Amino acid sequence: MSDIVRRYARLQVPRYTSYPTAAEFTPAVASADQRRWLRDLDTTEAVSVYLHVPYCRELCFYCGCNTRKAVRDDVIAAYRGALGSEIALTCDALPGPVRIARLHWGGGTPSILGAEGLASAMAVLRRHFVFETGFEHAIELDPRYVTSLLAASLNELGVNRVSLGVQDVNPLVQAAIGRWQPMRDVEAAVLRLRAAGIGNLNFDLIYGLPLQTIASLRKTCETVAMLSPDRIACYGYAHMPRLKANQRLIDEKTLPGVEERIDQADAIAEEFQRQGYLRIGIDHFARPEDALARAATSGRLHRNFQGYTDDGRETLIGFGASSISRFRDGYVQNVSDVPSYVRTIADGRLAAARGCRHDAAEKQRARTIESLMCALQADLDVTAPDMEFVEELELLRPLVNDGLARIEGRVVTATDAGRQVVRVIAAAFDPHTRDNPARFSKAV
Ligand SMILES: C[S@@+](CC[C@H](N)C(=O)[O-])C[C@H]1O[C@@H](n2cnc3c(N)ncnc32)[C@H](O)[C@@H]1O
Ligand code: SF4
Repeated sequence: MSDIVRRYARLQVPRYTSYPTAAEFTPAVASADQRRWLRDLDTTEAVSVYLHVPYCRELCFYCGCNTRKAVRDDVIAAYRGALGSEIALTCDALPGPVRIARLHWGGGTPSILGAEGLASAMAVLRRHFVFETGFEHAIELDPRYVTSLLAASLNELGVNRVSLGVQDVNPLVQAAIGRWQPMRDVEAAVLRLRAAGIGNLNFDLIYGLPLQTIASLRKTCETVAMLSPDRIACYGYAHMPRLKANQRLIDEKTLPGVEERIDQADAIAEEFQRQGYLRIGIDHFARPEDALARAATSGRLHRNFQGYTDDGRETLIGFGASSISRFRDGYVQNVSDVPSYVRTIADGRLAAARGCRHDAAEKQRARTIESLMCALQADLDVTAPDMEFVEELELLRPLVNDGLARIEGRVVTATDAGRQVVRVIAAAFDPHTRDNPARFSKAV
């Protein structure tokens, strides 16, 4: 069976944090659509908000995020000012007061704005939006920069969930990926956050990195589990040196091959399940009592640009360079180049530069793919009642014959063996990717 999985694992398919993926966005859908979709927003429904901060103190070799090294504090301050102006501009385009149910700071390393910078952006948000009581307020942090003061300030700002980039605890791996991070830094960050009253902690890990072995990864899993994070995301390293210049610093000879990646992903799942975590989708783990685990077991799991989530809201408003907003009828993405973003906002214009509209058929494909990615199963009568999917089901035949997928009536399921390649199963429902696969990373 593992030979068969290997064959599919080499295929290049999206991670499906959205469908259509951002690779399909075009400049034909941009700020005019954004303005119209904002104007047509149903203000009785609460929204989720994402704020992107594309700066870090140092660039890690492996990083695939939209970020850059920050050298000057005045540049960061200018960016923070632009974020505030964008929030005000966006609010002007809305038909009335809108409630925020979730707020997520991502990056980059958002804490680079400093406690004051984060507080000033929050103050602008509070002026323009209404926050629901007990809203989820999450932030991605680099453990090496979590001081007691920052932790206390975050708590004061109402942050109640933190994701820490742990990546790998092995010093040799850390050296090979340009991320020197002694375990005591991670432990200190965890202690400081918990002492400040921030109890919900997620860890990010990566497999498929240079010099990682099954044994070293098992050790990483064991070590991080001792800190009892509520959730763990363990991403497969996406190596795309043609798109990401910093990844050219990685010595490709030290990267594990597809076979090893499959075994690594299996070993990680085994370790965390042994530690009492529930396996969620393709790359997440959560304590059974955690909200994400409960969403998974009750069929309420969703997928968005941050990965798996229990957030089922239709509208997501993104602020910041490269951030993506999701509306009922499509997606828009802000311009990624930071100087262009800052200039556009300073000119009083919304910053969406590309996007896509989705019609009823695309929405049914999106629901099918999300269901496969989250539940490893899609009942097409529920996700896509108007679509026949003749060609799609035919494309799945080889996977069915190889024991990786099952089709029973209109229900498509990834088998246990097919879980690792569920992205390939999902891709059968994505006509865009079929035409041009080379833009994506490997399936495992
Ligand atoms: C914005 S960073 C997290 C916050 C903070 N900047 C840090 O590094 O600690 C988001 C996460 O994406 C993951 N990531 C970044 N580049 C990746 C890549 N090329 N392949 C897979 N995962 C990656 C890392 O696990 C990282 O923690
Ligand atoms: S992994 Fe985090 S700290 Fe490293 S470059 Fe990427 S965003 Fe910055």
